[in-house]
Amino acid sequence: MQMLKQLEGIRLEALSELNRIDELGELESWRIRYLGKKSRLTQILRSLATLTIKERRLVGSQANEIKISLQTSLVQKKEFLEKTHLASSLEYKRLDVTLPGRPITIGRLHPVTQTVEEICDIFKNMGFQVLEGPEVEWNYYNFEALNIPQDHPARDMFATLWIDPEMDSKARLLRTHTSPMQIRIMEEKRPPIRAIVPGRTYRYEATDATHESMFYQVEGFAVDKGVTLADLKGTLFEFCRRLFGEERKVRFRCDYFPFVEPGVEVAIECSACGGAGCRLCSNTGWIEILGAGMVHPEVLERGGIDPNIHTGFAFGMGVERLPILRYGIDDIRLFYSNDLRFLTQF
Ligand code: PHE
Repeated sequence: MQMLKQLEGIRLEALSELNRIDELGELESWRIRYLGKKSRLTQILRSLATLTIKERRLVGSQANEIKISLQTSLVQKKEFLEKTHLASSLEYKRLDVTLPGRPITIGRLHPVTQTVEEICDIFKNMGFQVLEGPEVEWNYYNFEALNIPQDHPARDMFATLWIDPEMDSKARLLRTHTSPMQIRIMEEKRPPIRAIVPGRTYRYEATDATHESMFYQVEGFAVDKGVTLADLKGTLFEFCRRLFGEERKVRFRCDYFPFVEPGVEVAIECSACGGAGCRLCSNTGWIEILGAGMVHPEVLERGGIDPNIHTGFAFGMGVERLPILRYGIDDIRLFYSNDLRFLTQF
């Protein structure tokens, strides 16, 4: 009979298609196609009323049996797929507790930052306060107010990175030293003043093993009644003792800076050769670490302080030179090239 054959065809087709399904998501469309309201099987079941009683019994029982067996196959297939899906995702996400852990990398302070902090701590212990100033500075603060007029030969000491082309007082530049803060501090504070100023400074220079165009300085500045060169010397010697140890020899001698009078230079015994002379100290046995002096009366006046009543001292030191000496680093550029092999050693 035609209809029974048709039913058998549906069953074979449905089962072989179900066999090929390997995704849970595809089961629903299979169900709609073979068991849904518009499926051929449902249509046959609906048309039973038009058949004779004999045909109806035969076709009806066959169709129902197919319907039930397709439903059972669907449930089984669904269970099967769920199980394999779970198993494969468990396998995929499995945690192998025997694998070695990933090392935790710990950040640290840059060697220059460590040195700045070390310097500041020593001066804080001596009663200095830490202040900071702008890196983009005016011609006025960087040069003019520090007794370095436009045509003064001392300007050659500072190869300047200018921001503005004009050369008036408000021309901007990248500060060539931290000394402009001497003026800014006097504009804000009255004596007694004891301050140190760490920060970046810039010079227009070809970079090599001993020169960088950006480097750090720490400025020291003290103004009070009766401050003398002996106070400056005592402060700096004490600083050197604390930073380099009791044994290290310190040299104090004349130098020139337009904003101090008298001006001095401080050097320490070379650590590489112990004073005998080597490449690091250009065979002198000494390494210069800072410039200093008594604040020039003109500079005090610019800051609104009467040099007949108050006197002061100032000093400025390069920061990179200290770790270079301490650790025997042979190239200043290593500090700012962000090479972790270098940085993680400190
Ligand atoms: N500013 C000077 C420099 O950069 C150092 C200095 C500071 C000298 C204070 C004297 C007093 O070379």
